[in-house]
Amino acid sequence: MAVNLKGRHFLTLMDFSPLEIRYLLDLAHDLKAKKRAGIKTNMLEGKNIVLLFEKTSTRTRCAFEVGAKDEGAGVTFLDSKSSQMGKKETIADTAKVLGRMFDGIEYRGFDQAVVEELAANAGVPVWNGLTDVDHSTQILADMLTMEEHIAKPLNKCKVVFVGDVRNNMAYAWMYGCAKMGTTFVAYGPKELCEQVDADVLKRANAVAAETGAKIIVSSDAADLKGADVIYTDIWASMGEEDQIPERVRLLTPFKVTTELMAKTENPDCLFMHCLPAFHNFDTTMAKQQMELGYDIREVTEEVFSSKNSVVFDEAENRMHTIKAVMVATIG
Ligand code: CP
Ligand code: NVA
Repeated sequence: MAVNLKGRHFLTLMDFSPLEIRYLLDLAHDLKAKKRAGIKTNMLEGKNIVLLFEKTSTRTRCAFEVGAKDEGAGVTFLDSKSSQMGKKETIADTAKVLGRMFDGIEYRGFDQAVVEELAANAGVPVWNGLTDVDHSTQILADMLTMEEHIAKPLNKCKVVFVGDVRNNMAYAWMYGCAKMGTTFVAYGPKELCEQVDADVLKRANAVAAETGAKIIVSSDAADLKGADVIYTDIWASMGEEDQIPERVRLLTPFKVTTELMAKTENPDCLFMHCLPAFHNFDTTMAKQQMELGYDIREVTEEVFSSKNSVVFDEAENRMHTIKAVMVATIG
């Protein structure tokens, strides 16, 4: 049966079948090739989208803006300071208003319930641009990047997420790998492994049982062996900055180093990261934290800049995959 995603929300990969995810990845490969060839497709001509950001962003915002403009759509950006949402107007009322004016709504914020409430009331597709518990558009970009660099299908690959195994990226990876039949290891300290949401794991495992994926939460370095991808993320996500001292204590042994990469026993193992990344002290935050005695680098400069690192391909692919989501749902 042909895949048709018109009118669908994009809140989590758990709402999509493996075939639908395959369709989005194929569309992204195609849109990327067309952009490279200078072929204009104008798939969103006459459409308008709005971007709601309650957290900061570089890649996600730019990916939506450039993706929409490439395809001929108009874009409005609202941050939490410049809109009434949540302060003087409910989420539901905001959704109803925006749904009267726009063809699609992107939301980045804290609680997954907010993006769900927007979706329930907007009457137009709502896209999740990151919440505290999910970052599904990032996984599409990462899978596109894997397909460009690894000569094996996703269901023959092993992805190891190293670090804060209970964050939005780790959960989004669990869902994505479960859907695509990929082996996934969340590798981190025992204390954080114990905090992985049991319901997230249960739902991912239920899908994995159907697709042949394996979802493993582990503190054992032996599980790095055979990885095709080592993936990491910052140790304290947006909104969790007060956790930095504790996370540095727990996660310093899980910093991605050349020695950790060698434990995969795969010289071609990719290094991946959603970005932004702390890999040196050239940012105000890394510098300030170091002055307080906390080295917050989750990856060394050596690994970040190595030939195995594909982090900027991932960043570019945010645009091609987000464009695919918009084209598929409102195009
Ligand atoms: N990876 C990612 O979502 O980056 P931004 O926070 O810059 O959007
Ligand atoms: N876990 C990170 C991802 C940033 C793209 C955060 O939520 O801050």
